[in-house]
This record gives sequence, structure tokens and C-alpha cells, in this order.
Amino acid sequence: MGEELGEVEKEVLEAQAVADEQGNNVRALKAAVKKGEKTKEELNEAIALLKKLKLELDGKRKRFDELVGGGSASSVNKEAFRRAVGNALERRMFITQSFSIYGGTAGLFDYGPPGCAVKSNIQDFWKRHFILEENMLEIEGPAVTPAPVLKASGHVERFTDLMVKDAGNGECHRADHLLEDVLKKMLANPLDGGKRKEIENVLARLDELGAQELGAQLKKYEVKAPDTNNEISDPFPFNLMFATSIGPRGDVQGYLRPETAQGIFVNFPQLLYYNGNKLPFAAAQLGQSFRNEISPQQGILRVREFTQGEIEHFVDPEHKDHPKFSRVADLEMLVFSREKQVSDVKRPVTMKLGDAVKSGIMDNETIAYFIGRVYTFMVAIGINPERMRFRQHLEHEMAHYAEDCWDCEVESSYGWIECVGIADRSAYDLKQHAAATNKEMGAWITFDKPKFVEELVVEPISKVLGKAFRKDAKTVVSALKTMTEENALKMKAELEKSGEANLKAFCDGGDFVIKKDMVKIERETKKVSGKFITPGVIEPSFGIGRILYCMFEHTYYVRESAEGEKEDDKKVVFKFTPLVAPTKCTVFPLLQKEEFNVVCRDVCNSLVDSGLSTIIDVTGTSIGRRYARTDELGVPFAVTVDHDTLEDNTVTLRERDTCSQVRIPISDLCATLKNLSSMKTKWEEVQAQYPSQGGSASAAKEENRTEATYSLRCP
Ligand code: ATP
Ligand code: GLY
Repeated sequence: MGEELGEVEKEVLEAQAVADEQGNNVRALKAAVKKGEKTKEELNEAIALLKKLKLELDGKRKRFDELVGGGSASSVNKEAFRRAVGNALERRMFITQSFSIYGGTAGLFDYGPPGCAVKSNIQDFWKRHFILEENMLEIEGPAVTPAPVLKASGHVERFTDLMVKDAGNGECHRADHLLEDVLKKMLANPLDGGKRKEIENVLARLDELGAQELGAQLKKYEVKAPDTNNEISDPFPFNLMFATSIGPRGDVQGYLRPETAQGIFVNFPQLLYYNGNKLPFAAAQLGQSFRNEISPQQGILRVREFTQGEIEHFVDPEHKDHPKFSRVADLEMLVFSREKQVSDVKRPVTMKLGDAVKSGIMDNETIAYFIGRVYTFMVAIGINPERMRFRQHLEHEMAHYAEDCWDCEVESSYGWIECVGIADRSAYDLKQHAAATNKEMGAWITFDKPKFVEELVVEPISKVLGKAFRKDAKTVVSALKTMTEENALKMKAELEKSGEANLKAFCDGGDFVIKKDMVKIERETKKVSGKFITPGVIEPSFGIGRILYCMFEHTYYVRESAEGEKEDDKKVVFKFTPLVAPTKCTVFPLLQKEEFNVVCRDVCNSLVDSGLSTIIDVTGTSIGRRYARTDELGVPFAVTVDHDTLEDNTVTLRERDTCSQVRIPISDLCATLKNLSSMKTKWEEVQAQYPSQGGSASAAKEENRTEATYSLRCP
């Protein structure tokens, strides 16, 4: 594609130059016609040629827009799509701006009833998929965190983003985002020669630019403040943590946690003990995190308070193989390695996890295992796997604690969004907390087989030392025992050569003359059954809101209006998987009749009693409109009570996306819906078991369903 783009880009620029030149000719001819120096016919001929050249230019420009994907047509589609999804989410109160009656505050959002239900279904599934299935240890800690914890973790010093200020009105902007916006706009237009490659390279390295280089790039591309077009300041770091004070005196400094992870690290010794002092094990926490984002935009994708789900998998750094790796080794997904990002063709490749580990693209089985588990989690909740990729961080892009990091990115109308970060944090955090508190943050590893190791053993002879040094004997023993191997070997050589050696006790404890009979210094072979280590940590970190929003976009579609319906009867549908759907079933009476309503209430109660969230809709509107209302809430199944129900205790059961219906006995309803909702049974199996029932008018149109989405191209 790169070559074709280059050719087309060249053609556009050439066609533009030819059209510009003809434009100049036309202008000159117009002046000449006025002066009577040229004829009208000559002018008309020139205008016709200009029109033809412009048409040719348009054709080439269209092809160029298709190739870059970010062309004006496509970005208009994206914005329209985003607005449509946003309207549906707001109309049905999935998500709303917090404190809106006071004008709202950027970066703060509320979840309404269906939003809360979908979010808690995703969180429940997260707990099941990770905590339950992987035997993790769940904890719940406070969001308010004393400053020393976050000083030790490095957040006080380094949890910053680079910010610039609008020189006119003082408005703050995230520096890398400003540069990114300007560069992406430039790429959406044809560029000369090597300019496109140059810009693509800056974009690929954007996350790793420090203040100075970012400042230089902002100057180079003449980036101004958005909206005002004012000059901007040089970039400077801004700490994203919300500071607070703890207690009434206000003298204990604290912060709202920027990640849930630290709450797990500080509990490591107790968790290890709880786990029978055995490694590896993982602990998990789901809770609120807070970041004072510089310019929160993009709805719930970048907010100042969000729910984070984090897993800390503690492992012997020398054994990062995973016993269950074979279960994910054959999973295929889009992998965007560091190498591919900096190469000329910046595209991810489809790859099996087993091959990614074998070829060294992924460092070890444990990180790849979690990537596999993240993949299956995301697909199960409704993320389209073709619009999800795992992107490796560039060397300098990684957080201050990370050794390797992969982001699970999902394509949305805002571009590729990081939803989960999977980082190898090494032993960084545990070592930092151990150093800050002087507490033991390590674990004993027992070897599979004992090892025999040679050690230099220094054995002070206490009896002789006691007689020789009396009250100083303790100092001498301690100094002998803590000698470095180098000093011990030097002493051994001196004792063998001259029979005595000088010993310097630390902290000015004095000089002592050691004789040959006062200490034994020998190399000995020892049997060792294990060793003490500081575990490494592999951390998958999930932003629940980002996952939720991307899932909303991936499940949104518009059902074509059926014959006879008005164009504005087009129906919005969220095709939520039954697992995450806010409500599993809606119950309707076919007509507004009390005898139907009685049965509806009974059916609804029995479904709720068996744990299925169910709503009942007895409003007088047409059944078609009532279906449309539940489709917009993403309810996967609907039950209708009609005349036949009163005769034979059967109802119709409708599936949202196919609009197909079966006739099913009320007595089978609970079990069938439970199995459908937990995705143990497929709709086709239910269709095979029960007689089908004529669908609604829109069912006939179902084949014409339009996925209201835009081009799914990879960059
Ligand atoms: P970004 O670069 O987009 O700011 P990040 O690299 O700072 O994200 P991490 O620090 O890795 O993100 O956080 C882990 C996860 O928490 C992210 O993958 C994301 O899903 C979520 N997250 C982080 N910041 C926010 C935010 N401001 N709003 C919503 N979710 C967030
Ligand atoms: N724990 C990873 C992060 O929130 O940055």
C-alpha cells in the first residue's frame, strides 16, 4: 500500500500543479478578453480544460483519501457515527455528564441505570474470567493514599504528562496531543517527497519524546493553541495526581491513588503468607483511580476518575514460563511489535501467541499468557477481534517502572485506543517499598533439586578472640563476618604469608591485628535448597470505562426500516452479548388486556427469581415500537404473551438480532433463558428445539441490516 500511496500522492501533487497553472491561464485570459486582446471562445476553451483538470484532480484526490483513510470523507463518517452512538447512549441514560445542572465538569461522568448494569456485568465477568478461573487473590484497598507510598513508587516525582500553555489565555493543553493532531491533519493531505515518512516517524515515536525534543518538534511544525491560534509555551511536566491531606490537622499529606496497583504491592508480605509462601501467585483489585488529566476529551475514554481492574502476577524472574501457556498458544491476533512500528511499513501482523514467544517478539510465556487471556476476555464481552491489536511499547515510551509493555488497543471512531496495558514491572515496586520501609518484600524459592555451591566461609574463633580483645571482641567478630569476599581473600593470603593481618572495624570501630588462630577462612561446598528473591511482576491493567465505550461502538448498528415504515423509523440496536446486556429479557403483552398483564407479571417474577434481570413493558404502543425500545437498550430476548398463552401456556420468545421467534412453553422459559444468557446455549439450538413463529415486519428486512460503521483499516 505504501508504494501505491506514494504514487497517488505524486499524481495528486502533479495534477494540482497543472490545475493551478490552468487556473492562472484562465485568470489571465479573462483580463485579456476585457481588454479585447483575446476572444471569448479562447476563454471558454480554457475554462473547459480547467474543469476537466479539476475533475481528474478530484478522482486522484478521492483515491488518495481512500488510501490514507483519514481523508475528509472518512473523518466526517467517523464523527457522524460517534455522534449517533453518543446520542443513543445519552438518550437511554447509559452515560451522562456529571453535575450537568451546574454546567458539568470536564472529565467526570455518571453511569445511568443501563450503563451501571452493563458496567457491573463486565466487572463481574472480569472477576470470573481472571480472579476465579486463575485462582487470584482479590483485595480492596482505599483510594486515599499516604504520600510516602507514592513517593516510594516514583509517582510523586515522575507521574507526569508534558503540558503547554496558551500564551494568550493561559489554557492548558497536553503537548503530545497537540502535536499529534497537527501531524495527523498534515498526513490527511498530499505531501511532498519524504515529508510523509518524516511525519510518520515522528508520530511513531511520539510517546517517547522528552520535553526538549517535543518542544523542538512543536516549534518545527509551528503548532499553535487550538481554538485561539495563539503561541504556546515550551512543554513542562505536570503531575497528574490529585493531592489531598489526611485528617483534621491537615498535616499528613496524601493523594488519591493514580492506579490500584500500589495497594497490592504494599500488601505483598501478607498475600505471600496467605498463599502458603509459594510463588507464583497473582493478586487483583478492582476500584476507582484518579488522574487530573490535562485536557480530558473523548468522552469516557479520558476521564479524571475511572474504574481500573489490575492484576499483579508475582513470579520468579528467572522462571517466566507458564503452566497453562499451551491453552493460549494457538490463539491468533494482531500483533504490532516495536520492530514493525519503527519499520517503513507500520502495520501489525496476525500471529499466533506460540509463534510470538518462539520468535522472541514476546519476551516470555507469562506475558503472552496474559495477552491471550485479555484477548479472550475482550472478545467474550463483544469487542470485534479484527479491530483489536496488541502493540508493544517503544523503549522510551514505557512507564518508569516497566521493562516491557504491550497495550491492548481497540479501534474506535477516535482511532486506536489503549484499553489494557500489560506490563512487565520487574521487581521495581517491591524493591522500592522494601527500601522505603526497611521491610522484607521478598520470597523464598525452593529449587526443584538442591544445588551444590562453593562459598567462602569466614568463621571467627570466638574463644581466642574473646581472650585477645575482651570488650572489643564483639566488634571484631562482627567486622570479620561482614568482610567482603575480596577483603576476606586478602586477609587469608596475609595470614598464610606472615601469620597476621590488619582488620579495620567499620564506623571507626578501630584497627585490630588478627592472628592465624583467630579466624578460619576456607572455601566450602554447601548444599543449598533454595534462594531468597524479590519477585518480578507481570501486570495487566484494565480501564473498564474505555473497554465499555469501545464495546458500545462495536455493538451499535442501525436496523433498516421495514417496508411501509417511515425513514425516521430506522432503529438503533446495541447487539450486546447476553453476558453483558443490561437486561436479559423484556416481557410484553400483545395487547393491553388485564388477563395478558397478569401472565406477564408472573413470567417476569419467575425470571427475576431465577436471577435474570427482566423488565416488563405494558405500555399501549405497538409491539414493533416496544421491540425497538428494548433493542436500543440491547436487550437480547423478548417474551410476548398473547391469546394462545391463555389456552396452552406457551409464549413467543424473540431474539434481538435475527428478530426470529419461537413458541415455547412457559415452564421451559427460565432454564432456556438462563442458558442463553450465560451463553451456554446458542439461539440456533433453541430454534432447533421449538417451533418457529412468524417474525415482526422488521425481521423480513433483517438481511438488509446496515452496520453503521466506517472503514476498518489498520494504519
Ligand atoms: P494514556 O497513555 O492513554 O493516558 P496510560 O498509558 O496512562 O494511558 P495506564 O497508565 O497504562 O494508561 O493505565 C492503565 C489503563 O487504565 C489504561 O489502559 C486505560 O484503560 C486506563 N486509563 C488510564 N488513564 C485513564 C483515564 N484518564 N481515563 C480512563 N481510563 C484510563
Ligand atoms: N498500573 C498501571 C497504571 O495504572 O499505570
